[in-house]
Amino acid sequence: MSKRKAPQESLNQGITDFLMELANYERNVNRAIHKYNAYRKAASVISRYPSRIRNGAEAKKLDGVGAKIAEKIDEFLSTGKLRKLEKIRQDDTSASINFLTRVTGIGPAAARKFVEEGIKTLEDLRKNEHKLTHHQRIGLKYFEDFEKRIPREEMLQMQEIVLKEVKNVDPNYIATVCGSFRRGAESSGDMDVLLTHPTFTSESSKQSKLLHQVIEQLEKVHFVTDVLSKGDTKFMGVCQLPNKDDGTSYPHRRIDIRLIPKDQYYCGVLYFTGSDIFNKNMRAHALEMGFTINEYTIRPLGVTGVAGEALPVECEKDIFDYIQWKYREPKDRSE
Ligand code: TTP
Ligand code: MG
Repeated sequence: MSKRKAPQESLNQGITDFLMELANYERNVNRAIHKYNAYRKAASVISRYPSRIRNGAEAKKLDGVGAKIAEKIDEFLSTGKLRKLEKIRQDDTSASINFLTRVTGIGPAAARKFVEEGIKTLEDLRKNEHKLTHHQRIGLKYFEDFEKRIPREEMLQMQEIVLKEVKNVDPNYIATVCGSFRRGAESSGDMDVLLTHPTFTSESSKQSKLLHQVIEQLEKVHFVTDVLSKGDTKFMGVCQLPNKDDGTSYPHRRIDIRLIPKDQYYCGVLYFTGSDIFNKNMRAHALEMGFTINEYTIRPLGVTGVAGEALPVECEKDIFDYIQWKYREPKDRSE
């Protein structure tokens, strides 16, 4: 998962931007998750609104926009800014917490703790490396690289290497590069790879070797350069393309590889292809049709609302079919 999101222009960009900034402030600085969710929900419904919002009253008609947010929209539309945000931006503590969470491995809790100890900048982090986890150290080491988005052209080269090396280990593997790349994005924040093997199902015993031998191979060819964390089914790490012909190097990139049982593979592919907004909408529709979908399975809901056994799934379209939704190609899954 990547921390940087691609900018998505919409008619009410100014409003959704300030709402998301307030949302992140509430979560990161105040630990106010309910306020965080309220701002996010309002931003999400407004981003889908098909015309330019003229005032707070118009926005308040939308589900998820209450009186207080409507007031802020009025202030923003008439003055072009928000006093509350101006204040937050000037507040050194909250600016530092927000900044530190841009380092992979530093979540809001760790960021608050660092700031309490007076650690506020990259320089401060470098001076206090002994206080960082391994993951955070790597995040610091490649901070500038990880802030850069990955052009599709490079994602294609990375995909070629990953798929080739996976097949070199065992041609029976199935691997799919998901995330924004699979949706056809012109640039991505990271590379999300899903991996399965016909001998690995949710009924069979654990086969952690299946993931580890792929990682070993990718390290051997110097594609994977660092490990952030490595479990039996989830690898989080860093990769880099070989140098260009003129000898210059590519930035280091974030890569996640997940090993998924074959019978759960396509629910995983669907989930990790996203977008997150599309996933939410599809799950909501599934519920209306009496199914529950998560990253592993699709299950029917009984009359009492209890989920039954996982349904068989052989491809993504099976999942669309169960909930009687017309199949949507990955490129049409932005929402
Ligand atoms: P990300 O890598 O965070 O998103 P992305 O690949 O769409 O975008 P980016 O180019 O910035 O990397 O997560 C991968 C997918 O996982 C995402 O498309 C959908 C799913 N997902 C959710 O459904 N909900 C979530 O909260 C997150 C973080 C991911
Ligand atoms: Mg991604």
